[in-house]
Amino acid sequence: MADALPNSLLNGVIVPLIDARISPLDRGFLFGDGIYEVVPVYAGRPFRLDAHFDRLQDGLAALEIANPHSHARWTELVHELIDANGGGDMGIYLEISRGAGKGRDFLPERGMQPTVFGFCFRLAPPKPELLQRGISAATLEDIRWQRCDIKSVALVGPVMLKIEARRRGADEAILVRGERLAEGSSSAVFVVRDGRVATPPASHERLPSITRLVVADVLDALKLPLEVREVRRDELLTADEIWIASSTREALPVTSLDSQAVGEGEPGPLWRRLFDEFQALKQREAD
Ligand code: PDD
Repeated sequence: MADALPNSLLNGVIVPLIDARISPLDRGFLFGDGIYEVVPVYAGRPFRLDAHFDRLQDGLAALEIANPHSHARWTELVHELIDANGGGDMGIYLEISRGAGKGRDFLPERGMQPTVFGFCFRLAPPKPELLQRGISAATLEDIRWQRCDIKSVALVGPVMLKIEARRRGADEAILVRGERLAEGSSSAVFVVRDGRVATPPASHERLPSITRLVVADVLDALKLPLEVREVRRDELLTADEIWIASSTREALPVTSLDSQAVGEGEPGPLWRRLFDEFQALKQREAD
């Protein structure tokens, strides 16, 4: 992720990031008691913003935190934040924590005021070398909790998994639960075998990825069917192509898994079609 841009959002007000202050008793800090979102912005326009707000609402409801803003107000704030940072291509991080209490009680006080924080970072298109080469991944057992459908700020599990992936020389961890594919440590996963594309269904084991839905739309436009079903670990290990998808990376081809080549060890033919159509869809939605 690129460095933060200078202006942030704190409790409804745009402030320089260096001046943004929250209480050390904030439950986001003490307990990871909050929800976040990452929204891509292309040419100053947030991409699939409503889907991100819907997921944010679901996460807040799961934690029993009242949403501090209406959809309409959120939209205004996001646009203020984009404008304050000069528009263009960027990612927006939004966090809503339950707020700061009077002390440190596991059980939250009633009627707390949530803390709302947002900042932006530059989103550069993937470098040509990366598109030529693809990325590497390591399969790791999923050590996270049972509610991975909630976009919780308590991310120490994926942090540990990313560190382990790096130790193995890999760019991303692809997580399995026993013989079943869960998801990437910060991405949705697609597997291609014999020309058929599969991705696992929504469940408590994985985040309902917005980019996964974008990839589904892209495949639809390409008239390529998508099988939404559980994927076995051995299908990963014998895949012709593997793709990961996320708001910050769009869709990328995994060309090496556990130090073995995936397919021919280079971005596959279906991924190339996916990439071109993904760019076309972004352009269509921006227009
Ligand atoms: N992460 N699964 C996990 C565990 C993720 O953390 C992410 C994204 C995804 C993809 O979701 P989406 O397509 O909605 O971005 C799947 C974001 C980008 C992050 O934490 O930075």
